[in-house]
Amino acid sequence: MSINENGFSERKTILVTGATGNVGRHVVSQLLDMAVPVRAVVRNPGSVDLPDGVEIVRGDLAEPSMLGEALAGVEAVFLVWPGLPTSLAPAVLDELKRHARRVVYLSSMSIREGRAQQAEPITDFHATIEKLIEGSDLNWTFLRISGLATNTLGWAQQTRSGDVVRWPYAAAARTLIHEKDVAAVAVRALTSDRHNGAKYILTGPQVLTQAEQVQAIGEAIGRPLRYEEISPEVIRQQMLTQLPPAMVDGMLNAWAGFVREPEPISSIVEEITGTPAHTYKEWAIDHARDFS
Ligand SMILES: NC(=O)c1ccc[n+]([C@@H]2O[C@H](COP(=O)([O-])OP(=O)(O)OC[C@H]3O[C@@H](n4cnc5c(N)ncnc54)[C@H](OP(=O)(O)O)[C@@H]3O)[C@@H](O)[C@H]2O)c1
Repeated sequence: MSINENGFSERKTILVTGATGNVGRHVVSQLLDMAVPVRAVVRNPGSVDLPDGVEIVRGDLAEPSMLGEALAGVEAVFLVWPGLPTSLAPAVLDELKRHARRVVYLSSMSIREGRAQQAEPITDFHATIEKLIEGSDLNWTFLRISGLATNTLGWAQQTRSGDVVRWPYAAAARTLIHEKDVAAVAVRALTSDRHNGAKYILTGPQVLTQAEQVQAIGEAIGRPLRYEEISPEVIRQQMLTQLPPAMVDGMLNAWAGFVREPEPISSIVEEITGTPAHTYKEWAIDHARDFS
């Protein structure tokens, strides 16, 4: 097998988990653009809508012993951990290292180094997965991202049915990142040894409050939108119908924290890709159809 100047064995395949998700679908298409063989592991192969050229294999991270077919002949794995119990991770990593030599894990910039337990449950599971990966024999890169801009698609139902977004914490200020930019760093880390051992903080290029994000969506869809700040308790009750209390309270605490202290900006997307990270306004234009 030939090894290129980045230490990448050219004929080997990259396995993408979360390939039907916001980030994973761009990882797939960007690897295909680079003519890298890509395999997507999905739970329901019959219903996926992925580009031609990607190999699709059934698999479930919740069934680690069944991942062998997905991992056969794989060089590197793009790994997401979509809220599954972390108790499943050791078995998943055992399977990964039987086949692959590199993993790129989609993590969170909320992790604080050296803490036995992280402040919020979501951050804590990312820290647990990172620790397990560090303890494995795999080469790894961690992509510690700010919030995905796609989180704000949660407002789409309101923007489609009216001109008002009712949500708490209008002044919560974040450096939301475009999913394409996360993918652009991921494909570089997946296809090169140069990023081994890196814990990259990835963010968007500017800080915007939630009220400013709503304004940007309005500009993208050509219709002014108004942010109406409501009590966090109202949203808490809505979120509790879908998520466990510890997770809901963790998310609300995080938003309250961004009012006091905006998320920092990192320039790592541009340093690695050579192209500035997309602004939230650009993201909103890319997603205008979702909001109108
Ligand atoms: N949202 C944020 O701000 C944020 C911040 C930091 C980190 N992250 C991390 O980013 C990850 C990816 O986010 P995203 O928005 O791209 O994902 P997403 O759009 O929410 O999609 C989740 C993906 O995970 C797959 N999946 C779910 N359960 C699975 C299972 N048991 N086995 C295999 N695949 C499974 C889904 O595939 P199918 O349903 O098609 O099988 C889907 O492709 C999240 O899981 C999260 O850990 C997110």
